[in-house]
Order: sequence, then structure tokens, then C-alpha cells
Amino acid sequence: MSTLIKRVHAREVFDSRGRPTVEVEITCTGGESGRAIAPSGASKGRFEALELRDHDPSRLGGAGVLLAVRNIETVIAPALEGLDAADQAGVDKRLKELDGTQNCSKLGANALVAVSLAAAHAAAAARRIMLVEHLHELWVQTAGAAGPGRRTVLVGREMAMPLPMVNMISGGLHAGKNLDFQDFLILPVGASSYHQALDWIVTIYHQLGECLTETGFEGVLVGDEGGFGPRLAENSRAVEVVLEAIERCRLSPGRDVAIGLDVAATHLAESTGRAQGYRLAASGGALITSAEIIDLFDTWTKKYPIVSIEDPLHESDSEWPEITKRLSQRVQLIGDDLFVTNPERFRTISAEGAANSVLIKVNQIGTLSETLATMRLALEADYWPVISARSGETEDATIADLAVATGAGQIKIGSVARSERLAKYNQLLRLEERLGSRAAWHGGKIFEALK
Ligand code: PGA
Ligand code: ZN
Repeated sequence: MSTLIKRVHAREVFDSRGRPTVEVEITCTGGESGRAIAPSGASKGRFEALELRDHDPSRLGGAGVLLAVRNIETVIAPALEGLDAADQAGVDKRLKELDGTQNCSKLGANALVAVSLAAAHAAAAARRIMLVEHLHELWVQTAGAAGPGRRTVLVGREMAMPLPMVNMISGGLHAGKNLDFQDFLILPVGASSYHQALDWIVTIYHQLGECLTETGFEGVLVGDEGGFGPRLAENSRAVEVVLEAIERCRLSPGRDVAIGLDVAATHLAESTGRAQGYRLAASGGALITSAEIIDLFDTWTKKYPIVSIEDPLHESDSEWPEITKRLSQRVQLIGDDLFVTNPERFRTISAEGAANSVLIKVNQIGTLSETLATMRLALEADYWPVISARSGETEDATIADLAVATGAGQIKIGSVARSERLAKYNQLLRLEERLGSRAAWHGGKIFEALK
């Protein structure tokens, strides 16, 4: 069937926090259509593409996205009609030309990302193939020439089920700042398949709820990403109670299930007069320096089975190369606010020796093609890409297909409660079943490259 674009239609819908967001439906001339919805972050990086909001105080607290919807209907739709939805690079190039800014501030990254992803859905529908297959073809076109590095030898070469990195306890901006660090996660590194990994995670999640309830810490209240949001006395208590839950499920911490953190340190940084540092409210309120927070993670990674730390430092902290030198042989260090999925930022900052993995969020940069470009650069620089959701999500599960299609190796979606999260976990179950042996499972094997 024809993949030429006949109609681009946008509407305002709502995300998992009850905030307005952009949905786009693209119809091809043969009648098939595809749909996508823009997600939205709360702990955003300063260098992210701009999410356009109406700022009209008389409606939805100013958070409406009718300007972005109008941009799609009046500027983007007429320019895309007649283009080939299967030519993702062509569609995305046109979107960037129409916007004309570095950070998508004219038309809005929420407009661009919904159109860009809807084009992929429409093309797959018109071609009568699964989205994951269409995305895999786009990925092979983009990444074809990226040679495997020492660490990335298992990553990004073929379709693969990703190892999920799953939020158990939420803090920071996702849970009323109950704890300083934003995510306390588990990685089922010893699981022998995606569905076994998910079984373990769900079992541990419920066990953790019981552990927290027993100790009287509001075990059933959850944060924006479905992780529990207890008020614990210390950040380290969150790691310890997660370890206890793993053990109570008769799984071995470290061997079967490892720990990850998303510190989201950009949002902990404070400068008061001459002093600049990280305010750890859940550890006595001290303002500690970059060197001290690096020491803290050095100690934690020796004491606990931690294999992954995201944004351990502020997005502009000059000590990123130092923490990378200290920890990168033992731990995955992911840059989220640091790189904001931006190919230019990735190129410059990775050359300075900062981090060894890159979080991939399509709406941080605006289009699917730029996202794939950053992923390719990551592989060339021997960095792992980790596909990620935002804290504001919807039933849109495109990133599940993207993770499998690119063989990225890891995915971070949030916890195993709240259906905007489960939409992705469940899509991964479907893909595992439908693709069978066409999608590899490397599980925690990729972490062996750290040693
Ligand atoms: P955000 O958080 O979507 O609120 O930015 C997710 C993350 O920091 O990884
Ligand atoms: Zn993050």
C-alpha cells in the first residue's frame, strides 16, 4: 500500500499526570494510519528541546498545548502532505527546516516528536509490517557502518529484547522530594529471558510493598513512575530495603538482581554565595561538594551491588571526567540531563571522557532521526544507549518497539504499576512472543564488559 502522507491531524490529549499533551494521527493515501503521543518530563535538563505550552492562565493552568496543535495543523500538515512516511529522514528533515531553531522552540518539540513518531507508525501500517520491523530497517540504515566497540559488542547489532531497569522507590521531583535521589532501580541481570525478568521484577515490587508496609512507611503510595514513595530517614535506607525485598524473594542481590540509581543530580545542586554543591536533605541537609558526592558513590558501589548510576553529577559539573575515571570500570554511568539525546552535545561531551552510557529520550531532541543519530554516535564512541520513558507518559508504547528494533540492550520505563508504564512492558511481552528467536536476549551479559 502507498506510504505517501495524505493527512496529518493533531489533537490535545492528557498524560499520566493529567497534563495536556499532543497526539498526532497520520493517514497515508491508501487509508492506513498511525498515531503517536508526546511524553513529558518533570526533571528536565536545561539543554533539552523546548516543550511548547500555551501559557494561557485561563485554561488548564497555562499548560494547554493548543499552540503546538495549531502549529501542526497549519504549518506542518500542509508541508508534509505528499511526502513519503517511510522516508523518516526526509520527514524529519522537513520538520527541522519548518521549525528552524536549535531547540524546536518555534513549533515545539512536543509537536515535532508526535509527528515524527506517527510517521513511523503510519509507514509500518501502510507497509503491513510490525512497527518494530519498520524501525529495525530505519536503524540498519542509520547504524549500518557503526563498528562494535569493546563494550558495545553485544549492543545495537541485531534486534534484541532489552534488559529492563525498573524503578522500585521514587524520590526527588517524582515523589515530593521525600528522598534526594530520584530513582532506586533494579536490574534483573541474572534472568534468562525478558519474561522471567519481568516475573522477578513484579514479585520483588510486591514484596517491597510488604517490607515498607511492615516498617510503617506508607508502602502503597506511589510516585509519578509507579515506584513507592516512602519517607525514609536516609537515602541509603532505600537501597537497603530494596536489597531486603530481593532476598526475601530468594533471589541473590548482585548475581540475579543488581541495583541502579538515577540521582538526577542537576536537581540537587545548589549554590549559596560562594559555596556550590549538592544538598542532601535526606542525609542531614548537608551541602556537599562534587568530590564528596563522588566519594559517596565510590563507597556505595563497594558496599552495595550497584551496577548503574545515572546523572550522579549536575549537567554542567566539570567533574564528570573524574567520576568516569574513578567508577567506569565497575559501573555504568549514564548521562541523561548531561547529553539530552543531542548528537552535538554527545559528540563534544563524550570526547571529554564523561560517562560511559547515554540515556535516549526521543522528546529531548525532537525527532526519531536525530535520536537514531545519537544512538549511532554512542555505539561509535563505545557507549551503551539506554532507551527511556519520561515521568509524564501515556498509552503510547513506541519506545518498546524502538528498544527492540535497535537492540539497545536496556530500557528504563518506570515501575510495574500504572498502566502508562505497563503499556510498554506489555508491548515488550508481545514482541518477545511474536519475534521469538529473531530477537536476542543478552540480559545482564552486557555488564560483563565492565570488568
Ligand atoms: P523526567 O525523568 O522524565 O521527569 O525528566 C526521567 C529521568 O530523569 O530519567
Ligand atoms: Zn534521569
